[in-house]
This record gives sequence, C-alpha cells and structure tokens, in this order.
Amino acid sequence: MKLVIATKNRGKARELGDLLKGLDIDVLSLADFSSVKLPPEDGKTFRENALKKARAVFEATGLPSLADDSGLVVDALDGRPGIFSARYAGEDATDEDNYRKLLGELEGVATEKRAARFVCALAYKDKVREEVFEGELKGRIAETPRGGNGFGYDPVFEIERLKRTVAELSPAEKNAISHRAEALKRFKTWLAMGPLG
Ligand code: IMP
Repeated sequence: MKLVIATKNRGKARELGDLLKGLDIDVLSLADFSSVKLPPEDGKTFRENALKKARAVFEATGLPSLADDSGLVVDALDGRPGIFSARYAGEDATDEDNYRKLLGELEGVATEKRAARFVCALAYKDKVREEVFEGELKGRIAETPRGGNGFGYDPVFEIERLKRTVAELSPAEKNAISHRAEALKRFKTWLAMGPLG
C-alpha cells in the first residue's frame, strides 16, 4: 500500500515518516515526484490549506495522499502568525528569521501572557475518501531560543511542565506529544477501520 506525503518541508516529512513507521505502508514523498507542484496556500484555515495540498497531490499522482498544514498560534498576537507561520518574516524567510521576528513582537510581554499553541491539520485524500484530522500542542514562547533539534519555531516554543523548548526534546520525545503526532494518531485510528483506496 502506497501513501504520498504531500510536503516539501524536510522537517515535516521526517516527522511524518517516523510517525508512520510500523504500519504496512510504503511511504513516498514529493522527492519521489519532483514534477508535482503544491498549490498556493491561499486558504483561510489550516484545514483548507491541508485539503488543497492533499487533493493536488492525489490528482497528480493517483495515489493516496496525506498533507499537513500547520503553524503557530500566539494569543498575545491575536493568533498570529497562524497560517502564515512559514513566511512570517517574508517569502524567503528562514526558520531563524521567523522566530526572531516573533521574539521581537513579544518583547516586553510578561511570561504569563506568552501562551501559544502549535496546530496541525492533516488531510487525507484517496479515490473514495477525503478526511481531515487535527492536533494541538500547548506551550508558551520563551524569551530566548534554546536547543538544536526539530525545526521552525521549536527553539522558542517552551513546554511549561518540562521546562524545555521543543528543540531541547529528542525526536522521540517530540513525537510523543506533538500536534502532528496527535493528528496522525487520529488518522491511524481511522485508517484501522478500512484499507487505503
Ligand atoms: P506550512 O504548513 O507549510 O504552511 O508551514 C508551517 C510552518 O509552521 C513551518 O514552516 C514552521 O514554521 C511552523 N511549524 C509547523 N509545525 C511546527 C513544528 O512542529 N515545530 C516548529 N514549527 C512548526
């Protein structure tokens, strides 16, 4: 059984690949389909964007496709950067550009007002089915970046009870609690109810 992971983001592809290990699924990525282009992320929600990507990759490959749209929602910034997380500091922004911009916007904001969450919408599409699964991870934005693992905003996203940022967690520790893992767990439960189409 084949499944295409519809992302060009290496961090996400690696995490989703790890999370799918142990299932009887041959996991492919867009690296196996270099001519496939992802549609612009012009939806208004994580859900809409994830569905757009899953549909486009299914149309192009004819294979069951799984797309993730995810991002960081910060309370003190009215939910920003949200669906614009990947390009918060501009179209060609690096992960570091993005989290530095975030730290700048939160300068002077007290610890207890720095609540944030990572959100993941995972869309699945095959010949007969289309479904979206969601997951969330709660935390707060640290004052300074810490840790070298993960990707994106991980160095500034602190899990309060662990007193560590997500970039200070091992890949296995992140995969035990992440928004992506939670969404994928829901996908796996659903998948166990019937084979891929
Ligand atoms: P998109 O889903 O391709 O629009 O990009 C999502 C963006 O949200 C990524 O480029 C990261 O900046 C951020 N993001 C999503 N998931 C994570 C995560 O697990 N850790 C850190 N940043 C994340």
